[in-house]
Amino acid sequence: MTTPGAVIVDAAAYAQAVEDAVKASAAYYAGGTSVLDDDAYDRLVRGIAAWEAGHPDQVLPDSPTGKVAGGAVEGDVPHTVAMLSLDNVFSPEEFTAWSASLARRTGHEVERFSVEPKLDGLAIAARYSHGRLRQLITRGDGTAGEDVSHAIGTIEGLPDQLAEPVTVEVRGEVLMTTAQFEQANEVRTAHGGQPFANPRGAAAGTLRAKERTYTVPMTFFGYSLLPLPDTETALAARLGGNAHSELMTQAAAYGVNTTATTAVPGTTADSVEQVLARVREIAALRPDLPFGIDGIVIKADLAADQQAAGSGSRAPRWAIAYKLPAVEKITRLLEVEWNVGRTGVIAPRAVLEPVEIDGATITYATLHNPADITRRDLRLGDHVMVHRAGDVIPRIEAPVAHLRTGDEQPIVFPEVCPRCGAGIDTSEQRWRCAMGRNCHLVAALSYAAGRDQLDIEGLGATRIVQLVDAGLVADLADLFTLTREQLLSLERMGDTSTDNLITAIAAAKAQPLSRVLCALGVRGTGRSMSRRIARHFATMDNIRAADAEAMQQVEGIGTEKAPSIVAELAELTPLINKLAATGVNMTEPGATPPTPAADGPDSSMEQEKAGGPLAGMTVVVTGAMTGVLENLSRNQMNELIERAGGRSSSSVSKKTTLVVAGEGAGSKRAKAEGLGIRLATPDEFATLVADFLK
Ligand code: IVH
Repeated sequence: MTTPGAVIVDAAAYAQAVEDAVKASAAYYAGGTSVLDDDAYDRLVRGIAAWEAGHPDQVLPDSPTGKVAGGAVEGDVPHTVAMLSLDNVFSPEEFTAWSASLARRTGHEVERFSVEPKLDGLAIAARYSHGRLRQLITRGDGTAGEDVSHAIGTIEGLPDQLAEPVTVEVRGEVLMTTAQFEQANEVRTAHGGQPFANPRGAAAGTLRAKERTYTVPMTFFGYSLLPLPDTETALAARLGGNAHSELMTQAAAYGVNTTATTAVPGTTADSVEQVLARVREIAALRPDLPFGIDGIVIKADLAADQQAAGSGSRAPRWAIAYKLPAVEKITRLLEVEWNVGRTGVIAPRAVLEPVEIDGATITYATLHNPADITRRDLRLGDHVMVHRAGDVIPRIEAPVAHLRTGDEQPIVFPEVCPRCGAGIDTSEQRWRCAMGRNCHLVAALSYAAGRDQLDIEGLGATRIVQLVDAGLVADLADLFTLTREQLLSLERMGDTSTDNLITAIAAAKAQPLSRVLCALGVRGTGRSMSRRIARHFATMDNIRAADAEAMQQVEGIGTEKAPSIVAELAELTPLINKLAATGVNMTEPGATPPTPAADGPDSSMEQEKAGGPLAGMTVVVTGAMTGVLENLSRNQMNELIERAGGRSSSSVSKKTTLVVAGEGAGSKRAKAEGLGIRLATPDEFATLVADFLK
């Protein structure tokens, strides 16, 4: 096999590259079992095209260049109008050049563009006769496709019956959402099948499988609407003359799903600049979408412009795909590590053969829990599809099962806690050491003493190890009864450091409830959730009196989380009592407890109650803080935001109202700009919340 991306030096290397590309593309369209990820395939085809440009007389008939689907597939149902592919651009400059060439071709600037996500699935033509769905055809080689009508009824967004009795063809993309993909692999492996490597492959394989004892749902998004030979004349004329954006509105009115239902609806733009702004917006939203996109499709919106531009044999000249960097690569799973966290949870983590995805080298990926590993049938040595988008932690999508050699080894689950050797509580999906937070006491105490929790200066991990080893501390509360003599007995503890530590520990007793709660390390509650719980209930007694239903009144706590938080607080009762007895503060300053009459999730109420200059706002802080905010940690910034009535968040999304961007702000600032979110400098923000700065 050739190395994708390597320069082709001679005719033999060229022939090999063509053979590899044909094989990969055939596999891709047949069921997504290509041995090359999209990026590697694209590089291979670019290499082939480059060689062909210099040797036009030696182009092989099999070459994938200039062909729909790389020439890999055929079918026997002719398309009434060719189902074309799209040409690609990869940068604003290339897009600008493309739009200029389009203007030259049509003799005028394109009047209006439509801009929509490029959905990462497979193209399908759905033929409706008098409003009834009669036939589904794949794109095939563009002229004829395969009949996959057996899938009718399993594709969400493609109704059996349209809202009007029209005869039309709807074209669009069939894909699996992330949730549908998870479900598909679960069902498939439960039936003894091999998991699909990624949602696209899963959709391709599922669509073409004629006989299956089970069905897995897929989703359709329409991106074109055209007449069929027996479409009523008036309607045919209308469809032929309408702008693309109008056709999409019409398709939606018929009941067909379009991008209009998503966070990245198709829009129109009047200029190249507007198009590029929308491209940035869609790119910024990509990591949060519940389905895969691999670019943005830009089309001349008006039918007249499309007709003037015309089409080539492979792609229309009036549309282009603006490709985004690949977020998936194939690499190998080398090892699985089992790490015990500070709460005793035993979490598996995948060690990968390093792979570069969108500029970052990935060596680890999350594996959620043992059940997840079993469900995906992962094995050591497997080739795996790794997904990484934006700032999100990389994850293994699935093994690439057909690349198995038989040498893969089962992943061995620990039988005892890998840290302390105690038993493992496997009653929940996330396994936990039977010793709970006492297993990794040093980690639990280091976290509790950390600057965002109790902020005990001078109490680092080394000191904590000494205290634990000396038997002076067996839980968090023991810290607060340490005596001067006990501390002095430790190695490298002089008078001054002892006095300082005693003072720091005494000061920690006065920390607000939110920080005390956070220090306890209740699973599923980090810093911001601890603040929300503390603000909502105001006192530890109120928190402990809350049942699951009362706990759910806190914003962000759902039916699943509430009972586990309540149960864990019950488990922590002895420790909380012990802490209270040592004089640790158990109230949240400035918070008022909920009144019995106040029911329903509290977000709006709480916000009103809070008032303040940031009431109703969701604020994200990024980059280095300067001026009066210079010494505030991220956590202190978040506390400040919440004191001032706002909601703090660590990630920018459409819900963000303000981004405080300091020096060195990177991707979050870019994302905010892409989404048109208000930005503030640290100084501007400090002025806004001046009354709430301590
Ligand atoms: S328009 C003649 N719009 O991308 C116009 N295609 O790489 C051709 N695709 O074959 C298609 N999202 O399968 C169009 N919003 C979108 C799309 C889209 C995904 C697919 C489609 C096409 C392929 C080309």
